[in-house]
Amino acid sequence: MKIWFVALTLVLTVAKGQGSNFESYIFEGESRWNKNALDPMLCDADEEECMRYMNDIAMVTRTQWFAQPSKEHALYMRMPVSHVFIHHTVMNECFSQWECAIEMRDIQQYHQAVKQWADIGYNFVIGQDGGVYIGRGWDRVGAHTLGWNNISISFAFTGNFNEKLPTDDALNALEAALIVGVKLGKLTPDFKLHGHRDARPTESPGQKLYDLIRRHEHYEPIGPNIITFVPKSHG
Ligand SMILES: *[C@@H]1O[C@H](CO)[C@@H](O)[C@H](O)[C@H]1NC(C)=O
Repeated sequence: MKIWFVALTLVLTVAKGQGSNFESYIFEGESRWNKNALDPMLCDADEEECMRYMNDIAMVTRTQWFAQPSKEHALYMRMPVSHVFIHHTVMNECFSQWECAIEMRDIQQYHQAVKQWADIGYNFVIGQDGGVYIGRGWDRVGAHTLGWNNISISFAFTGNFNEKLPTDDALNALEAALIVGVKLGKLTPDFKLHGHRDARPTESPGQKLYDLIRRHEHYEPIGPNIITFVPKSHG
């Protein structure tokens, strides 16, 4: 009982990004992925409670960011999927739910009106505030990584991460979301994490973030790495 309480407190603290263990990992050259920060085993004491709390904390629904509806009938993937792609948006950063909601609508507008896609392309977008903003969500086929859209989930960090990393809150949010994804049966426990540029000729997810992603325990390259920069490539 006592261990469970300590475990839940730790999960909540880390999911909120406060007093995060990432803080001791922020110096250059050191991995910021703290394997113990969100050990899925911590949830085993009471999985339902754990899920409820983690969802409450991290996820911002489409209703909450005032999304436009999808322009087409959604296509659904077969769950669980075993690939996750990390992107950067190369648009604005955002530091509060209010700012990030505006940013979500801008991204959606760009994807629907300019790209002519049915909806915002990403499955999830992560703001500097540590919010996980639901784009197409876990189950719907996205428009993010050509050739991989129907077998993968995408997380896009708001901003450009060639020369700096996302905030600790944002990185913690990704880690929490990945664990929740496995818990929900949306991701296979041995899912492979990739950078967008592993599959496409693009800078995304940015050099600094890519360097970090490559140190994640779930990271796996895809064939030969393609790192040619193609300006304005968001697909
Ligand atoms: C994904 O799309 C490709 C190309 O359209 C298709 O060949 C493949 O069967 C699809 N895979 C799944 C799992 O639906």
